[in-house]
Amino acid sequence: MRRICIINQKGGVGKTTTAINLAAGLSRKDRKVLLVDLDPQGNVDTSLKVKAEGDLSDAVMGNQVIQQCISNIATNFFVITSKESLSEAESFMAEHENRKEYLKKLFESVNDYDFMVVDCPPAMGLLSQNALSLCGEAFIPVSTDYLGLEGLKNMISFIQRSNTHNGTSVKISRVIPTMYDARNRICKDTLAEIQTEFSQICSYPIRINSKLKEAPKYGKSIFSYAASSRGSKDYSQLVEEVLAMK
Ligand SMILES: Nc1ncnc2c1ncn2[C@@H]1O[C@H](COP(=O)(O)OP(=O)(O)OP(=O)(O)O)[C@@H](O)[C@H]1O
Ligand SMILES: [Mg+2]
Repeated sequence: MRRICIINQKGGVGKTTTAINLAAGLSRKDRKVLLVDLDPQGNVDTSLKVKAEGDLSDAVMGNQVIQQCISNIATNFFVITSKESLSEAESFMAEHENRKEYLKKLFESVNDYDFMVVDCPPAMGLLSQNALSLCGEAFIPVSTDYLGLEGLKNMISFIQRSNTHNGTSVKISRVIPTMYDARNRICKDTLAEIQTEFSQICSYPIRINSKLKEAPKYGKSIFSYAASSRGSKDYSQLVEEVLAMK
């Protein structure tokens, strides 16, 4: 099973949009996928309108077994949602001796999938640290603007420090330029810089597309909301790249 966290401490760069559409796209390619929301904002639930029996905080606090918190929302597509109570669960985890590997232990029995895709919060606290110990790969969405590029560099250092000091072994396997607008000079310049500096791991850019903003309102992935949109094409391309990676 490939465990991929979608991570960037910078807010609003397209983490949740990428996590949802990557997971949905992989499931449409006959891969069994579990999408896990690790953000107390609960945007996965809001975007996919999941009717879950329990959420991640229930599993963390021991109120529900983890398997009961998994909802099947489409063929091959499974989800564990979160809500505000995950902040309390984070404090609960902080009291635990193995707090940085709490989720790794919790998810030990969850291995019947081809992919686990983890949507991280925009903060480098204990939840993101747990994502790094749970996952073998990190995908970093980065908005194609100057601040986005700075955030990317900070994010890479954070993951490298975690690998050195916290015993994680996360490979940064994709940098995903997001919100790309070819008419905008700063977008073009930033994309060129990212492509030069990270040529081996840089994905095709995800273009700015209003359909990607609309889809969550209808509880749909971009593939079922607007199959012929740019957003759908760009995320399909990402799915193909991910499947082609060794
Ligand atoms: N390519 C895109 N084109 C247009 N809008 C986009 C695109 N990608 C994401 N958005 C929109 O931008 C906003 C932020 O995206 P998203 O929630 O995915 O970011 P995030 O990194 O998960 O944010 P947070 O850090 O708050 O969790 C959302 O309204 C989303 O619909
Ligand atoms: Mg998000």
